[in-house]
Order: sequence, then structure tokens, then C-alpha cells
Amino acid sequence: MNLRDNFQARIDRDEKIEPKDWMPDDYRKTLIRQISQHAHSEIVGMLPEGNWITRAPSLRRKAALLAKVQDEAGHGLYLYSAAETLGVDRATMLDDLHTGKAKYSSIFNYPTPTWADMGAIGWLVDGAAIMNQVPLCRTSYGPYARAMVRVCKEESFHQRQGFEILLTLCRGSEEQKAMAQDSLNRWWWPSLMMFGPNDADSKHTAQSMAWKIKRFTNDELRQKFVDATVPQAEILGLTIPDPDLKWNEEKGGYDFGEIDWTEFWNVVKGNGPCNRERLKARVDAHEKGAWVREAAMAYAEKRKKKQQQKVA
Ligand code: 3HC
Repeated sequence: MNLRDNFQARIDRDEKIEPKDWMPDDYRKTLIRQISQHAHSEIVGMLPEGNWITRAPSLRRKAALLAKVQDEAGHGLYLYSAAETLGVDRATMLDDLHTGKAKYSSIFNYPTPTWADMGAIGWLVDGAAIMNQVPLCRTSYGPYARAMVRVCKEESFHQRQGFEILLTLCRGSEEQKAMAQDSLNRWWWPSLMMFGPNDADSKHTAQSMAWKIKRFTNDELRQKFVDATVPQAEILGLTIPDPDLKWNEEKGGYDFGEIDWTEFWNVVKGNGPCNRERLKARVDAHEKGAWVREAAMAYAEKRKKKQQQKVA
């Protein structure tokens, strides 16, 4: 059996592929692409919520939002580390993000004008992330699967704190409930776009399914997300902004309207409402943080020399 067939047989037996194992170059390449872009999404995803940390309506809300944004930073670092096990270095990945060569999730290119957006992001965006990330705990590449187990534990807190923010608003004044509905109206469709293009238009899904990088297709996960989220909107007393949303008894799930794929590809290509602002914020942070990296490297160098002198 040749190397490639043997590799596929391992995948078919649900064996985990580890960094030192033989793997096809295109398996390695697509994992570096997906994991690094996942990491970029976590780091850029801190920005829309960071916008509200200093304006949270109470100390409790501020503490929860701070904890969530800090978690996202940690998720990004786990994922960069998982990608590095495939032979790509951090500087290259960050350069690809900063030069616009690498993608990050389209969802983070939308503005967060009201406090209700903190609720909608936790409830919908982290809810969609959970739908996508729980299966990734069983992805065929070991370091990615193990990073996801830790990430998913924290995502459930993210989703619940978001839902609770909206529940509080929906039980508040008419203005507060209207603010929650406005936020759902703005975040619903971009959240469905997080799952990627329809399977028929997805260039990676078929191969990613064959290699068990993905355990469900984009459309399957999107459908699961809609079916799980519509009843939650009913508990909130909010209306999903989709006139075509209807329970389909036969399929045991909701039918829903067509996604605006022109908007999706527009945002993916860099023309969303906040793309420039997000990328500038990341480039500025990276440039302003250069002294921290240099100091850490100098300290590490000094310690290494001291260790070597001790040994000599
Ligand atoms: N935003 C930006 N680009 C997207 C996208 C989106 N929502 N959906 C798809 N794309 C891109 C893909 O990256 C690919 O482009 P590329 O070849 O240059 O990488 C192209 O569109 C075709 O899409 P495919 O569906 O064929 O690509 P994938 O098989 O990679 O599927 C994916 C896309 C479902 C996002 C998959 O990559 C994935 O599951 N990634 C891991 C999860 C992830 O990255 N989630 C992003 C959000 S993280 C998050 O929400 C954190 C939370 O804590 C808030």
C-alpha cells in the first residue's frame, strides 16, 4: 500500500494524525490554511467586543465581557500553536493576516453600535462557533482536535452570557427590547454566513470531509445552527429577520431564506463595513507591540546564555 493509501486508511480508521506522522502535502497545506485563519478570527474577533469593555452597563457585565475577550485571545494562541506543529511559523501567519493574504471570519467585519450587539455576538456568533467547533474536537489532526476541546469549554460560557444579556434587555423597557431586536436583525444573516458557502460552492468541503478535517459540511452545520437557535429566539420573544423561515415537518428542521452571497463575498474580499478598521487595528497593535517581543526575545537569549555558562 503506498504512503497516500496508508494515510487514508488511517483516516478511515479514525486514527489521529500527529505532527511527526507522514501526511500528504495538501493535507498539511489545507490544515495550515484553516487553523491559521481560525486563529486570526479569534484575535480579530476580540475587536468588536473590545469596543464595549469600557462602556459596559455594570461591573458584572464588564467583568464577563473582559473574561470573554481574554478567552478569545487564548483561543487564538492555542490555534497558532497548533498551526506551528505543521511547520509554519508565527511571524509568517501574522504577516499573511496583516498583508490581507490570509482570511479571518467575515462576521468580525460588522460594527457593534449598541450594547445589545454584545448579546447578539455571544448568543449568535459564539453559538455558531460552538456548532462548528464541537465537531472539530473530532477532527483528524491531533493538535487541532485537542485545542478545540479546551476552546469549546469556554465557548459555552460565551454563548450563555450573550443570551443572558439579550434576555435582560427583552425583559426590560420597550426601548431595550427594540435594541435587542435591532441587533438580531443586523447579526442574523452574517452569523449564517460564518458556516461558509453552500456545499455546492465550497472548494474545500469535499476533500476536508474525506480527510475528516470536517465532520459535517457547511450546510449541515448551518442547518443545525438554525434549528437550535430559532426556539431560543422564541424564548427571547424576538423575531428572526427571515420571512421564509418555516418549520418543515418532513425534514424535521426549518426551511429558511437564501443567503445574500454577494454580500458574503464582498465582505470576504475586504469590502465589509469594518474590514479596513479591523486590519489597521491589528497592524497597529503588532507594530506598537514590537518592543515587547524584542524584550522577551532578549530576556530569553540572556537566560539561554546563563544556562549554557552553568552547563559549561
Ligand atoms: N469568512 C471568511 N472566509 C470564509 C468564510 C467566512 N465566514 N467561510 C468560508 N470562507 C473562505 C474559506 O476560508 C475559503 O477561502 P480560502 O481557500 O482562501 O481559505 C473559501 O471561503 C471557500 O470556503 P470553504 O467552505 O470551501 O472553506 P473551508 O472548507 O475552509 O470552510 C470554514 C470554511 C467553515 C470557516 C472552515 O474553514 C472552518 O470550519 N474553520 C474553523 C472554524 C473557524 O474558522 N471559525 C471562524 C470563526 S472563529 C469564532 O467565531 C471564534 C469565536 O470564539 C467567536
